[in-house]
Amino acid sequence: MAHQDDPKPGRRDFLYIAAGAVGAVGVAGVTWPLINQLNPDASVLALASIEFDLSGIEVGQSVTIKWRGLPVFVRNRTPEEIAEAKAVPMSDLKDPATDEQRTKPGHEQWLIMIANCTHLGCIPVGDSGDYNGWACPCHGSQFDTAGRIRKGPAPTNLVLPPYEFISDTLVKIG
Ligand code: FES
Repeated sequence: MAHQDDPKPGRRDFLYIAAGAVGAVGVAGVTWPLINQLNPDASVLALASIEFDLSGIEVGQSVTIKWRGLPVFVRNRTPEEIAEAKAVPMSDLKDPATDEQRTKPGHEQWLIMIANCTHLGCIPVGDSGDYNGWACPCHGSQFDTAGRIRKGPAPTNLVLPPYEFISDTLVKIG
């Protein structure tokens, strides 16, 4: 065995090092396929879309679903929420967008947004804040009933994913 002041490793040290190296290669060999499986090719991600059935969501309810690994809010807005969103003057908005621009024609009760705060990515809490929409627990940004930034550090509205209605109760996201 090598002494501390002996720079050359002895035979037993060599065996320890060799065994460790074989172990590390073995672990990498086992884990790499798992890691690789979690990282699909970018072209596959670009095509990823989901269809989501809205029929179980009552008026005034929200659900959070996953799309491309992102949380997405799907809210069935009440008539009051819609009226409140439509009544806001554009001059009051930091990131001006009409309620019509935030929804799809004929499906204005549905608000579908990526659920990451545009400040630093926390997930806002629904049915809260001064604007009856969402409030971010991290630094206090508040979003209205159309998901538009109304207060706090978030620079922009909650982001809308690409989506389309296939029928009144089926939406395709992505
Ligand atoms: Fe939402 Fe900072 S992450 S306010």
